[in-house]
Amino acid sequence: MFVNRSLLHCLSLVLAVRFSVVAARFFEPFNVSYDHRALIIDGHRRMLISAGIHYPRATPEMWPDLIAKSKEGGVDVIETYVFWNVHEPARGQYNFEGRYDIVKFAKLVGSSGLYLFLRIGPYVCAEWNFGGFPVWLRDIPGIEFRTDNAPFKEEMQRFVKMIVDLMREEMLFSWQGGPIIMLQIENEYGNVESSFGKKGKDYVKWAAGMALGLGAGVPWVMCRQDDAPDVIVNTCNGFYCDGFGPNSNDKPIFWTEDWNGWYSSWGGRIPHRPAEDNAFAVARFFQRGGSFQNYYMFFGGTNFGRTSGGPFYITSYDYDAPIDEYGMLNQPKWGHFKDLHAGIKLCEPALVAVDSPLYIKLGPKQEAHVYSEDVQARGFNSSYSVNESKCAAFLANIDENETAVVTFHGQVYTLPPWSVSILPDCRNTAFNTAKVGAQTSIKTVEPVLPLFPHIHVPQQLQIQKESSCISRTWMTVKEPIDLWSENNFTVHGILEHLNVTKDHSDYLWHFTRIYVSDDDISFWENNKVNPALMIGSMRDVVRVFINGQLTGSVVGHWVKVLEPLQFFQGYNDLVLLSQTVGLQNYGAFLEKDGAGFKGQIKLTGFKSGDIDLSESLWTYQVGLLGEYLKIYDIDQSEKGMWTDLTIDAIPSTFTWYKTYFDAPNGVNPVALDLGSMGKGQAWVNGNHIGRYWTRVAPKDGCPEICDYRGVYHSGKCSKNCGKPTQIWYHIPRSWLKASNNLLVIFEETGGNPFEISINSRSTQTICAQVSESHYPPLWKWSHPDSVGGKISINDTTPEMHLQCDDEHVISSIDYASYGTPQGSCQKFSQGNCHAPNSLSVVSKACQGRGRCSIKISNTVFGGDPCRHVVKTLAVEARCMPSSYIGSSQI
Ligand code: GAL
Repeated sequence: MFVNRSLLHCLSLVLAVRFSVVAARFFEPFNVSYDHRALIIDGHRRMLISAGIHYPRATPEMWPDLIAKSKEGGVDVIETYVFWNVHEPARGQYNFEGRYDIVKFAKLVGSSGLYLFLRIGPYVCAEWNFGGFPVWLRDIPGIEFRTDNAPFKEEMQRFVKMIVDLMREEMLFSWQGGPIIMLQIENEYGNVESSFGKKGKDYVKWAAGMALGLGAGVPWVMCRQDDAPDVIVNTCNGFYCDGFGPNSNDKPIFWTEDWNGWYSSWGGRIPHRPAEDNAFAVARFFQRGGSFQNYYMFFGGTNFGRTSGGPFYITSYDYDAPIDEYGMLNQPKWGHFKDLHAGIKLCEPALVAVDSPLYIKLGPKQEAHVYSEDVQARGFNSSYSVNESKCAAFLANIDENETAVVTFHGQVYTLPPWSVSILPDCRNTAFNTAKVGAQTSIKTVEPVLPLFPHIHVPQQLQIQKESSCISRTWMTVKEPIDLWSENNFTVHGILEHLNVTKDHSDYLWHFTRIYVSDDDISFWENNKVNPALMIGSMRDVVRVFINGQLTGSVVGHWVKVLEPLQFFQGYNDLVLLSQTVGLQNYGAFLEKDGAGFKGQIKLTGFKSGDIDLSESLWTYQVGLLGEYLKIYDIDQSEKGMWTDLTIDAIPSTFTWYKTYFDAPNGVNPVALDLGSMGKGQAWVNGNHIGRYWTRVAPKDGCPEICDYRGVYHSGKCSKNCGKPTQIWYHIPRSWLKASNNLLVIFEETGGNPFEISINSRSTQTICAQVSESHYPPLWKWSHPDSVGGKISINDTTPEMHLQCDDEHVISSIDYASYGTPQGSCQKFSQGNCHAPNSLSVVSKACQGRGRCSIKISNTVFGGDPCRHVVKTLAVEARCMPSSYIGSSQI
């Protein structure tokens, strides 16, 4: 819904007045400031873990669960950007509804007891269309983005002020009892600043002053901004941020983007960052004085609609985050981070008590940082006592290959390669970043049964994957390769794509007519040459049609086009369809980037020489007829001239398809398999689920074993080589009715809709492996039996924890061995030592339960199966919906 800005303002004022009386406060109002060590929340320094969740990349129905799962994972703060282009799709028209209801999102964060870090930008990058800028911004006369430019600054200030005012009106700042503790202005401007010379420097100062002038009453940060003015905290973004120095010594060390994964492009591999390495990075950050760390992303989600940036970023923004695109836990990452966070939290009293740690070199590549109140009080060279005061230590082994045995405070510690041990009492290890005790979850994506079994299907339509297809009846309508709207217009020359489309559609049609003489035809025949289309430079896709037939396609970002053509004698319709696949979201001068064609455009190889098309008469038309008629909407769908689809009509280019389907039973997330299709877009009940494109990733570059050791980079542990980058597309449950859901697909290049299936995503297999030498469960540290936060409880036996997804239970234990099992999940095998009752012990403890825990000790397994050997328990279990188990009485 679009609303007029002044109306919105009046409304929000009215609401603010009403809410100031009745609005629920989430906290007692508190102040936020900082010193050189940390954020100071209500007078106390805090060590804070933050989870990046972008509200428009999920549905409001998903938000509570995502926030709850983040909280359970041990975070204190939720972080999000603010996405200008979805809030102000047309200048002065605002949208804060549905997925864009940022106020609702903020309130959910507050009501769950978490803080909120709002990164307003309003440039956000984020692999988001145009980096978050509304495309209409380009049209403001004289505008230059992100520099000392009056029209830009005016627009930026207007939007940032509106957001700050909205948050204030809704009582969302900490000093009002709301969750917002920190704000960000701009985003990584330091990366592009030099392109703007002095104007860049002036802009940074202006942005800082403007932000401060809004009176938000909480600290502001800039990220990657070494020259950030003193009123602003410069923060770090990267895969590692230990050793980072802010813009002055009186600023704390903040990590605004801990890249715990990475994004993908169509035809690219899927990046994976191992949990052990990421935990190492986080532990090193806190070890070396960091105090605020935000995961980018804790939940990545989905680029619904045409929101993905680019060019060429895929619809999924899973990011290998601890909560996956569908809102399910990505294990063991989520669990390992949860343990890590618990370990860091145990250290918090010591970390906040100490201004800077004591550094101890333990070996050539081994070091300790000790946070001890004693050292703090008595000076750097004093000794400290681990018994009397707050003391926490981090022991790091940054050797990529070798385990290190180090002596610290008279005690011996074994540190695996590339790992940090966390000692919340300076003596006992609570956690080591390379030892994963959390379970692994293997996700299964399974087609649900066909939905129209009563419909007779002719033999020839019974395709191979019939049993899994979404439907056996499809309707179809061709997208005309022709003019259909009165809005088309004809001019001389080539127009810049975005100037025409305003990004209301990916598609811009260019029509012209070419006369081919008999002489040309004989010239081509005699010389055995073809005429060709040449375009100096083009982005992202161009499709060439001659007389209504698709004859060629080129894909690339500002690439030259040279496409052979085949004309008939006489007049030929030449149609060029220029397409964008996500607008540029990174870099300087975004307003100048544009889209479509640049440079010369001509036909080569004609008898009389090249034909320059740059100044020819072209007729332009924006978008598709189907888009214009909104035939994907439930109400409008009948407007299309749909006919029944028959097997001989597929695969077909530039075609719309539709069908109806029932929602799968149960609560599992739903995914649409579009692996049988080419390129296009899809809608469910009028909701745009995104662009799809079955482009295959390179065959090589995916290591068989991902070694967590050593410095990570985004290409290090990729997966999915030789397979399409994305075939599954998330359909949020809240977009589905029980039955009769309308699915509409627009297909450009040809695919087989009969093979489209609807899938249910669940965790069917879970595994874990925990050894006797593992650490005791972290909660025991804060157990009433522990003294002064020190672990003095008698029972320090490690435990294994297993858990199925919500509303699922463990239906069977497929493998269990207490002894010396070998291998990994789904490949476990028995070693020399094995307790014979392993399976029965684990089955008894877990079967039929949603979650269970087992102590890793000889007593539990009826005695020691092999003396003087460190025993490990390895388990593989199967999860099923609890409703199935109930009905089958397992
Ligand atoms: C950062 C940027 C983020 C995101 C990230 C990569 O440079 O600030 O918005 O684009 O890179 O995922």
